[in-house]
Amino acid sequence: MNRFGIPSLVLAMGLATGVPSVLWAQDGGSAPVPVHVSLDRVTETKPLPNGIEIHSGQAILQVTALRDDLLRVRVGAARALPEDASWAVLEEARRSKIPVKAESSGKAVGFATGKLRVSIQRTPLVLTVTDLAGNVITEDIPEHPVEFHGTGFRVYKRSPEDEHYFGLGDKPGPLDRRDEAFTNWNTDSYGWQESTDPIYKSIPFFMTFRKGVAAGIFLDNTWRSSFDFNKELRDGYSFGAENGPLDYYILYGPEPKAVLSEWAWMTGATPLPPMWTLGYQQSRYSYYPETEVRRIADRLRSERIPADAIYLDIDYQLKNRPFTVDPDKFPHFDQMIKDLKAEHLHTILITDLHIAKLPNQGYKPYDEGIAGDHFVHNPDGSVYSGIVWPGPSVFPDFTQKSSRDWWGTLYADFAGRGVAGFWNDMNEPALFEVASKTMPDNVQHRIDEPGFAKRTATHLEIHNVFGMENSRGTYEGLRKISPDVRPFVLTRASYAGGQRYSATWTGDNSSTWNHLRQTTPQLINLGLSGFGMSGADVGGFAGSPQPELLTKWLEIAAFHPIDRDHTSMGTYPQEPWEDGTTQDLNLRRHAIEERYKLMSYIYTTAEEMSRTGIPIMRPLFLEFPEASKDRHPLDLNTNNEFLMGPDLLVAPSPYPDTLDDYEAVLPPVGWYNYWTGEKIHVQGQEAMRVGNDNVPDNDLQIFLHPSVDAVPVFARAGSIIPIQPLVQSTMDKPEGPLTLRVYPPSAAGQTCEGSLYLDDGVSYAYQKGQFLRLKFSCELTSSGLIVKIGPREGSFTPWWSQFSIEVYGATKAAASASTVSGPVTTALDTDHHRLQAVIPDDGKGAELTLAY
Ligand code: GLC
Repeated sequence: MNRFGIPSLVLAMGLATGVPSVLWAQDGGSAPVPVHVSLDRVTETKPLPNGIEIHSGQAILQVTALRDDLLRVRVGAARALPEDASWAVLEEARRSKIPVKAESSGKAVGFATGKLRVSIQRTPLVLTVTDLAGNVITEDIPEHPVEFHGTGFRVYKRSPEDEHYFGLGDKPGPLDRRDEAFTNWNTDSYGWQESTDPIYKSIPFFMTFRKGVAAGIFLDNTWRSSFDFNKELRDGYSFGAENGPLDYYILYGPEPKAVLSEWAWMTGATPLPPMWTLGYQQSRYSYYPETEVRRIADRLRSERIPADAIYLDIDYQLKNRPFTVDPDKFPHFDQMIKDLKAEHLHTILITDLHIAKLPNQGYKPYDEGIAGDHFVHNPDGSVYSGIVWPGPSVFPDFTQKSSRDWWGTLYADFAGRGVAGFWNDMNEPALFEVASKTMPDNVQHRIDEPGFAKRTATHLEIHNVFGMENSRGTYEGLRKISPDVRPFVLTRASYAGGQRYSATWTGDNSSTWNHLRQTTPQLINLGLSGFGMSGADVGGFAGSPQPELLTKWLEIAAFHPIDRDHTSMGTYPQEPWEDGTTQDLNLRRHAIEERYKLMSYIYTTAEEMSRTGIPIMRPLFLEFPEASKDRHPLDLNTNNEFLMGPDLLVAPSPYPDTLDDYEAVLPPVGWYNYWTGEKIHVQGQEAMRVGNDNVPDNDLQIFLHPSVDAVPVFARAGSIIPIQPLVQSTMDKPEGPLTLRVYPPSAAGQTCEGSLYLDDGVSYAYQKGQFLRLKFSCELTSSGLIVKIGPREGSFTPWWSQFSIEVYGATKAAASASTVSGPVTTALDTDHHRLQAVIPDDGKGAELTLAY
């Protein structure tokens, strides 16, 4: 036996022979298995039209260009490359090829694309990717060549000390992944803390950012994988997996937004969500019986808390059995859904993946699943069963298309009864009463899937992709059941690309201040990993928040992509009207109301996300990659800030439970206080210019005092933000004009811009032209301001017939105001630092000229 536990070493070739080191073992007389393979030198090179193939002894390394800015690296330890299949990367992307220009010198061989240069040094073998400006995007470490040990492998890359890392999904901890190490193994982690790893999702994709240049690395491997950023090697990061393919992608920016758009191109963008899912959502584990659900709905309305959805957790089911309803607790289930709808509330049902093992009891999901052989097996061929909420349960074989399709049909009944959305929980998969919290490693999953070789895989390979394929089955099923309705699926576990099928949340967090603080890095990193529709249980799941914490959480979550108040069974009631003073209730209501007034802006941002992959919630460096003096990510100077969409900067106190002033950082473009309309004056800020090394970073600081009243929000100078009249649900028609808040740029000659996207919010009619897109702009002149509204694009008719244009930062009345039709009256509101003019919208566009 050797240290890899493999018997009978039969051959060893070392560096002395001039051949890359390979150790071979025999596994009981069958084909030899490489024990240790090191890609330490190039022994053969083969140019390809779209890249290059390198041999290093028995090992093969292939680097190909999918686009000018996107490379794929595949490595096989023994004469063959891994199977060209993926759960994450779309077939069209994997098949994409561009011609490259081969390059070769005595020392190195490689190729160039229109944006990148790939160079593979021959001895020692070092893969270096640079952009055409010479910036190193990623580079192997010569002393740490790519190595296979038994079935596992590890890749090391150089890490300059000013490089920073983001992404990797929902992993808790600081925003920057530098100096941290992580494992990918989807885990049900009730009560996780900032240092807990792994938790629910595995997204082996991260973004590198150095001196304003961004890139991405994606290891497409579903096995237990790990990432180490500067822990093992101070000047290196590494990634590897216990088994499975060494298949990774290199995405080049240089703008961080470009990396995210490539990521969306490869793995799909978050689809345009139904508008109602951007509204406030009310949830709790234990909304039962029916009278309680109705009481919550009525109270939302009587307290005038705008809301769009109510969740029913496992308690609506009969004995926790998925796809059942407990008739005692919910005697008028269908009528209840209709009544909620009449109150303009959507119902979302939990539908966990574990199917109760109930032979011969008329339980359709079990009977059908057994008849169709849709459940995963033990190695002896029997159906695997384990304990979860319903007791003994069986588990659909989601990596088999036919089983996913069958799973999807289970939704027809609820969808037909008016249920609007579905929640796929426990899909790590979570198992009770076992130390591993999941199924045994040797459970057999079938891969029977277009694009994959048909075979059986163990749970070790499928575990991390199981939750994503569960949500895929749900999403694709709903697409078939109601082809013209956009599905809403919320999943807890997922893998890279899972955003194609579902939104997500951060699982069972806790009602503590540090968990509120954790929402910022966690949701930002989820967005940078593709999951732009994400939220955290507002108020915290485990435990009960003190009143100020719930208030503050609701204030901040109003600016998160998903705003869902959820808590565990047995905790204090956590709805906005609970446990607090009248002032708390007013503040909580006010926060949610503001979200509804911003709905046009949020929806516009969501539509941008569905086209470009740019998430709703953004780190500062995504919008302002060049903003700091040395072009480090500006977010490293802040403690908890984030952007909602391109133009709103939210700056919560990192420690809102303390009284101390805190420092916020504003990117150097000029900002307005969103609440008061006042222009923020930061000393020296206007002078700040990219590349001006004489301007110290701290010119951007402002100091804020924490207050329970509101979370500080700033609007970007040069933006135009649509605001709509308050409604209680996105199903209500807003009444009144569409307001355009114009935040003028800082200097004459500068412009501003904004846009609006709208459609029916629920169907796919937008794909046939039934949408509305408006573009806004403004220009600051020496004598005033010109605001322009472009003509309507698309055939969707909006709810307004007038624009209310509000120009912020105003200190005096306008000398004159006019459109092409003639003079317009304006009103100065000094309290809100704005000038307002109302003009008709005939759909053909408008122009308002203000002279001061
Ligand atoms: C899990 C979920 C939680 C849910 C509970 C009961 O803990 O993460 O959100 O309420 O199960 O279904």
